[in-house]
Amino acid sequence: MGSSGDRFSAANGGAVVVDKGVDFANYFCTYAFLYHQKEMLSDRVRMDAYYNSIFSNKHHFVGKTVLDVGTGSGILAIWSAQAGAKKVYAVEATKMAEHARELVKANNVQDVVEVIEGSMEDVTLPEKVDIIISEWMGYFLLRESMFDSVICARERWLKPNGIMYPSHARMWMAPIRTGLTNQKKCDYDGAMEDWHYFVDDTKNYYGVDMSVLTKPFDQEQRKYYLQTSLWNNLHPDQVIGTPAVIKEIDCLTATVNDLLQVRATFSSSITAEDTRLCGFAGWFDVHFRGRKENLAQEEIELTTAPSVDNGTHWGQQVFLLHPSVRVNKGDDMIVNFSMSRSKENHRLMDVELGCEIRQSSGRLLQPIKCNFYIE
Ligand SMILES: C[S@@+](CC[C@H](N)C(=O)[O-])C[C@H]1O[C@@H](n2cnc3c(N)ncnc32)[C@H](O)[C@@H]1O
Repeated sequence: MGSSGDRFSAANGGAVVVDKGVDFANYFCTYAFLYHQKEMLSDRVRMDAYYNSIFSNKHHFVGKTVLDVGTGSGILAIWSAQAGAKKVYAVEATKMAEHARELVKANNVQDVVEVIEGSMEDVTLPEKVDIIISEWMGYFLLRESMFDSVICARERWLKPNGIMYPSHARMWMAPIRTGLTNQKKCDYDGAMEDWHYFVDDTKNYYGVDMSVLTKPFDQEQRKYYLQTSLWNNLHPDQVIGTPAVIKEIDCLTATVNDLLQVRATFSSSITAEDTRLCGFAGWFDVHFRGRKENLAQEEIELTTAPSVDNGTHWGQQVFLLHPSVRVNKGDDMIVNFSMSRSKENHRLMDVELGCEIRQSSGRLLQPIKCNFYIE
């Protein structure tokens, strides 16, 4: 990797300027640890989807060249070789590349898989490839912004008739009920109560009045407890209204510009009897369909929707409403959703959410407007 002074632009030719050293410290560092790779390797839903997408579609791999963007432990590269690929380039930015190289050798595919340590954006391959495979999805699909690197790889290294694994992605949202609303409000109230004791004590014991800092402390705590989206594996019963697709991505054609902002207006009808709207949950799915001229024999779906038995390490992102709102079956809502990259860190997201609820009686409730942070 380059030094901390090194800079690179996003694949669309400069929308975001990123300091590589800072990015490495903030983002890549965790991927260098086996415990983190193990978390992903232990996610059965994720593993089964990629495994089945490769081994149920061997015709895509036999005798072909493959590029694995962000190979991590090397698992997808090894499977590609086992499925019959002629050559696999396995690119990994972190020192995990050394473990991947060991794993490749231990599984006897070293003649096919070449592990390359470096940023996808910087690496030069000796040829173009038939397939790009990558597990690039972050929380709520786009957190981490790793798909930028896949797009960069696609533009430089995919043959004109090449295939993307996965080929398509979608983001979903739905209204939910959850006990987290009360819990987070209590945590916030507790933090503020504690602050007020602290201000009194500091004045009494040390003669300095801290109350001028109450407002910024309050803002800080609100952001932390009430406005930061939460990771949660929801039970499907917690979804109280119809889910909606808010973004569709064709991995073969999407540009970085298409991903910088997700804007959607969607409607949802409450399907649960007499309940509370506590917030919204966001999740994603990806599909492995091949491409129009060279379809998958078996199309595989990887979904991170609320599930009883098939939860994933991605879970869902929960955006809480404070206070929650009483709703009933048949109430309709229009939701305006906007998500863009945080100015301070392009791998994190800022969200604006507006919601208008029309009760089944026709009565319109007070509109809701909130800001959230996906940290
Ligand atoms: C979500 S992990 C997936 C690892 C592995 N492919 C798997 O499926 O288990 C993403 C990996 O991509 C690497 N990565 C992210 N962006 C990269 C880039 N621009 N160049 C090279 N590696 C990258 C990360 O370091 C991390 O190991």
